[in-house]
Amino acid sequence: MSFPTHRLRRLRQSPAVRRLVRETHLVPSQLVLPMFVREGLSESQPIGSMPGVVQHSLDSLRRHAADAAAAGVGGVMLFGVPTVRDAVGSGADDPDGILNVATAAVVAEVGDEIVVQSDLCLDEFTDHGHCGVLTPDGAVDNDATLERYAAMAIAQASAGSHLLGLSGMMDGQVAHVRAALDAEGFTDTILLAYAAKYAGAFYGPFREAVDSQLKGDRRTYQLDPGNGREGVREAVVDVAEGADIVMVKPALPYLDVLADVRASVEVPVWAYQVSGEYAMIEAAAAHGWIDRRGAITESLLGIRRAGADAILTYWALEAAAWLRESR
Ligand code: PBG
Repeated sequence: MSFPTHRLRRLRQSPAVRRLVRETHLVPSQLVLPMFVREGLSESQPIGSMPGVVQHSLDSLRRHAADAAAAGVGGVMLFGVPTVRDAVGSGADDPDGILNVATAAVVAEVGDEIVVQSDLCLDEFTDHGHCGVLTPDGAVDNDATLERYAAMAIAQASAGSHLLGLSGMMDGQVAHVRAALDAEGFTDTILLAYAAKYAGAFYGPFREAVDSQLKGDRRTYQLDPGNGREGVREAVVDVAEGADIVMVKPALPYLDVLADVRASVEVPVWAYQVSGEYAMIEAAAAHGWIDRRGAITESLLGIRRAGADAILTYWALEAAAWLRESR
């Protein structure tokens, strides 16, 4: 009888040993909660395709942000849903626009305890739903859009946002926004570049959440799902332009890109577990086909293991509570 030379099970024998040798940890401060605030609401409204996630009123947004801070969540990322939209997304840089008003309200409430972040993109504010302004023949105009992003950045920084999430995938957006902020004295405003953002089906529920007007797709600016190296290139370019943090999005279908980006840059790398990833687990769990808490925890751990320093997830608040009780 021959005995195994390598007994790898030795380190799996008990919860105490497993805990001691665990390589990857998840703590509440590594989670960022995305939240939607809709202009004109007096009460929060459910989002059908994202059970458990709501469009907030200003009041419920403030309260929920305070809950996130109390739970030790690292940050909140705010998305605005305006009542009026136009071709250039005027509501985006209007100081009275819903996202800027909401940002100021959340900063006033919890700005010392949690990193308050705002989405910097035009898609929620345009009547055509694209992330930029259009040329007369309907193409997304990269360089004209940069001017709109600069104005939006100043408005968000003026509202007190600590961190701007540049999610529009226009070329040169990081450098352009950085220069505009610095020229106005906003040298401390942090820039998160949605560096490798892939075009695809996993944003479906989000489009309901923000009442998106988009017809067609974003394939002329978001990345092609087949291209991993190009995602790394986007991240490297964004760091060179001055991004403080880069992100890969969606998360689970792109863990290879996440790992490659992690190995290629020195700045923090974040991942966005998007609405479609959320909806899949919620739907399967609602059918009793998957263990909800186990699947959520495992997905977050997998995203961390692949290289994410922090994760944007709609489960941030709930997961933070679980992490505290399991300590
Ligand atoms: C664009 C933006 C999108 C998401 C975050 N920022 C949507 C898109 O590109 O269509 C999607 C997030 C999610 O699906 O959870 N402002």
